[in-house]
Amino acid sequence: MQYTSESLCRNKVRPYNSHCDWECRAMVDKVASHYAGGGDLASAIAGSLRKAGKDIGKLTTADLGTVDEFHIRGRQATLELARSLNLSADSRVLDIGSGLGGPARTLVETYGCRVTGIDLTQAFCDAAATLSGWVGLSDRVAFRQGDATSLPFADGEFDAAMTIHVAMNITRKDRVYAEAKRVLKPGARFAVYDILQGEGGDVLFPVPWAREPSISHLATLDAMQSLLTGAGFKIVDEQDSTEQAQRWFEAMTARMAQGAVPAVTFQAFLGNDFPEMVRNQVTNLRDRRIRTVTYVCQV
Ligand SMILES: C[S@@+](CC[C@H](N)C(=O)[O-])C[C@H]1O[C@@H](n2cnc3c(N)ncnc32)[C@H](O)[C@@H]1O
Repeated sequence: MQYTSESLCRNKVRPYNSHCDWECRAMVDKVASHYAGGGDLASAIAGSLRKAGKDIGKLTTADLGTVDEFHIRGRQATLELARSLNLSADSRVLDIGSGLGGPARTLVETYGCRVTGIDLTQAFCDAAATLSGWVGLSDRVAFRQGDATSLPFADGEFDAAMTIHVAMNITRKDRVYAEAKRVLKPGARFAVYDILQGEGGDVLFPVPWAREPSISHLATLDAMQSLLTGAGFKIVDEQDSTEQAQRWFEAMTARMAQGAVPAVTFQAFLGNDFPEMVRNQVTNLRDRRIRTVTYVCQV
């Protein structure tokens, strides 16, 4: 029998508590299995890279950027976000929903800081550690499995935090932002880059964060303002990048149509649905069914 969080709670193997109601745990399981794909993600990524003639012993972060920066506009968007965080080599940064660890490694490489990533999906945490070893950055990044709504860190532990394309899988966004605020030092910056519900109608599925609506929970622009200020943050900047996001996906569709795909893409873990997800994202962005927005906040 495969034990899911839901069955463990139901059979009282694990105690029921306020962070662990059955529906919520079942949702967590669904989100993690959406992302975990076939399991050993690092092997799948290594396989694609070898097929393209890459030597795993000589990889750079640039070789991984098309797979490990799992969000719209990739590494460029991470660098833009990072500029708002006031980082130095002494900074201790938290990446909430760190995925395969690309954004964390980009920060380490650019600023020499230390980054801790936390992610719900164990397979992503395992792969993030392996990929960090490939590019020689293991000593400055650490990844651990955990839930953004209940962070396993002490109050005021971090100098800065970011979260990129994560909250769209989470119903209790109030807990995510309250937890982010709790683990940050006074005056620290928190950058949020997320996909929001647009005004152009319902999202077309599948999309990279969900194959169907039950695990997709997009906030509106209005809701984001009250969620962030309600958690005690001051919003110091807000940028809507929907136009650039649309152009980024249109360029990806054009490359795919010409067969000019990079050595490794999100298809390595999203599987054969990926081309349909890309087509849907072009429509979702063009119709403004979704928007991409960045918030820079201060404790
Ligand atoms: C689209 S990926 C983005 C990953 C990474 N931020 C990046 O930009 O490369 C979304 C990530 O959010 C994680 N996630 C979803 N719900 C979460 C939760 N409640 N707590 C922590 N991570 C979560 C998923 O496991 C996945 O790795």
